[in-house]
Formats: sequence, structure tokens, C-alpha cells
Amino acid sequence: MRIYIDSANLEEIQQAADFGIIDGVTTNPSLIAKEGRDHHDQIRAICGILDGDISAEVVSTDTEGMVAEGRDLAKIHDSVVVKIPLIRDGIKAVGRLASEGIRTNVTLCFSPLQALLAAKAGAYLISPFIGRLDDLSQDGMDLVREIVKIYDNYGYSTQVLAASARGPLHVKEAALAGAHVCTLPYKVFDKVFDHPLTEIGLEKFLADYRRSMMVHA
Ligand code: G3P
Repeated sequence: MRIYIDSANLEEIQQAADFGIIDGVTTNPSLIAKEGRDHHDQIRAICGILDGDISAEVVSTDTEGMVAEGRDLAKIHDSVVVKIPLIRDGIKAVGRLASEGIRTNVTLCFSPLQALLAAKAGAYLISPFIGRLDDLSQDGMDLVREIVKIYDNYGYSTQVLAASARGPLHVKEAALAGAHVCTLPYKVFDKVFDHPLTEIGLEKFLADYRRSMMVHA
């Protein structure tokens, strides 16, 4: 499973990139707004940090506007994947952009049938939002499982990107469900490293080593 960082913060992205295991970045207008910089400048800067898919979202809501914005975003860097909301005009824009060789990430997906439409339109990625469904006491991971199953049934090439992950359990379940990608806020990525038995085990190994060195000193 590929791991993306869900952030527009350059320091966080650099910190994550330094591990050498991050495959991309997802942004959205809310994340970029937090950084207080021009949208395109921020995307350009992110592309300079990491070699991988960098999702950048359009803010138009009509097909022509989304296609025009998508073309502009795609010109920033080859890594850019244009994020398009799952609305009627968005589905039309996905097909238009796909015919020009521009990859899209269809976002704000909350149902398996929405995901079917995105695949038929030629989306490169579909982003089901797990956490936001969990917040409404619906099992967000069921949506990921259903999309994976539907795409497998018909051999769609659209890849499933589990988004809106809130903790390590989401990451594990996304991997078990067969999601191609999971995008994580930096704080969730950081938690995935930890297990108390790793810390305890390492302390014991090092204490035993120090003791044995004292015996042989
Ligand atoms: O970037 C899309 C998605 O991951 C947003 O997550 O936490 O705002 O529901 P969240």
C-alpha cells in the first residue's frame, strides 16, 4: 500500500519525506488555506520536496472551470494529480482531463456508486472519506471494502485512496481492505511507528548490553 501525507505544511512534508517511504501528498483547499500562501506556489513548493503523486484540488464547481483549473494545476509539475469533487460537473471534467492525459483524484466520495461513476469517467484515484463517515456513526471502512470489491469485479484501473484517516487502526484496516493508497495527517503517520513493546524491548537489549560490557571491562 502506498502512503501519502495529507498536509500542505512544508515542514511536515519534509519530515515525512526524510523517512524515504512516502509515496505522495494530498492537499485540499482547507489545508492550503492554513499555510497562508498562494495555492499554486504552495503546490510548486511541495512538488520540490517529494518525488510522488501530489494532489491539488480545483475550486471551480462547473465543468469548464474545473477543466481550465485542472490544466493549470497539471502544468505546475508532472507529479500533480488534479483533485476533483464528486459532483455531476466534476465527473464530466474527469473524462475531459483524462482524455488529455491529466490524472485526477476524485474527492469527497461517500458511496460506492459515486466511486463507480468516477471509475467509469477514468479517474486515476478515488478518495473515500473514512473518518467523516465514522463521525456520522457509519463504518467508513465498509465503503473502502465495497469500492475495492466493485473495482475488482469489473477490472477498473482507478485506484482506491483511503482518505480522512484519523488513526493507525484506519491505516491497518485500509491495508487489509486492499486500498491502493492511504493518506495520513502527519500526526497519524507518526503514531504508526509506535508500539510499547518495541520501546521496552529496546531498553532491555541496551541495558543488557551495557551490563555485559561492564562485566568484561
Ligand atoms: O484531504 C482529504 C481528507 O483526507 C480530509 O480529511 O480529516 O478533513 O476529514 P479530514
